[in-house]
Amino acid sequence: MELLFYMILLSPVLASGAQGPKRPQKPASAYFSICHRSDPNISGCIKNTIEDLRPTLIKGTPELDLIPLDPLNIPRLELREGGGNFRFEQVLTNVTIHGLGAFKLLNVKADTDNLTLDMHMLTPFMRFDAYYEMEGKVLVVPLSGKGDCVVNFTDVTTIAHTQLELVTRDGDQYLNVQKVEWNIDAENCHFHFNNLFGGDKALGANTNAFLNKNWREAFDTFKYLAEEAFGILFRDLTNRVYRHFTYKELLPE
Ligand SMILES: *[C@@H]1O[C@H](CO)[C@@H](O)[C@H](O)[C@H]1NC(C)=O
Ligand SMILES: *[C@@H]1O[C@H](CO)[C@@H](O)[C@H](O)[C@H]1NC(C)=O
Ligand SMILES: *[C@@H]1O[C@H](CO)[C@@H](O)[C@H](O)[C@H]1NC(C)=O
Ligand SMILES: *[C@@H]1O[C@H](CO)[C@@H](O)[C@H](O)[C@H]1NC(C)=O
Repeated sequence: MELLFYMILLSPVLASGAQGPKRPQKPASAYFSICHRSDPNISGCIKNTIEDLRPTLIKGTPELDLIPLDPLNIPRLELREGGGNFRFEQVLTNVTIHGLGAFKLLNVKADTDNLTLDMHMLTPFMRFDAYYEMEGKVLVVPLSGKGDCVVNFTDVTTIAHTQLELVTRDGDQYLNVQKVEWNIDAENCHFHFNNLFGGDKALGANTNAFLNKNWREAFDTFKYLAEEAFGILFRDLTNRVYRHFTYKELLPE
């Protein structure tokens, strides 16, 4: 793993939030139920708040710069790794992810002193549709092509470790996500890449069959790319919302 970089380019709509906080029309309590730092069961409170937010998360809330999560559209996702024999490069455009809205929160643990939030979730089914361009090797098999692809996952468990910090802007304190570390696992995964090897039907079918037969190994080899990409994505998505409310308003004493 000599060289790794990845890039997520969010749509212009998404990027426009970076110009500074725009005040929402309503106080935080109009959008979500507020938890208090002094609540001995703050983890339970945050869990309930997130569960109550599900319909809002699914649809999005433009005035909070919260984009719809189900389906979630990611204009461009680049996954790159390595050099030499281990080179792998995949550019996905117009990625649509269905199924995130059905998440089940298994466990939430918030630590308001250390500003950490750990969440354990299960998502029963996720479907990725995208246009791909890919070059490199997966396991021992060379892969090259461009076209449409579908990747289905069943029973995806995710553990997210979120580290927050307080930042000061215009004399007020705001919560800011420093990083989200994901650990992603799945019970099953099924790929279909159309038009591999410039449309060579037999080779394409064999390669898809090989990938599906060996999905576990392929998934374990490359999941860290997805974990890092989604870590950045969810950090940025969360911070866009946090910018709208001060720390005191979001998480009062
Ligand atoms: C904390 O809140 C959660 C969610 O409401 C609840 O399930 C749990 O029983 C609560 N725990 C305690 C110790 O009160
Ligand atoms: C993006 O994908 C969706 C469905 O997956 C499709 O309806 C839409 O036409 C695509 N957009 C572009 C620009 O390719
Ligand atoms: C939280 O921070 C305190 C000191 O500020 C440290 O002693 C403790 O181990 C930390 N807890 C976790 C779970 O990291
Ligand atoms: C993915 O799941 C959808 C919906 O269940 C199904 O129509 C499609 O054939 C599946 N595709 C793959 C590649 O598993």
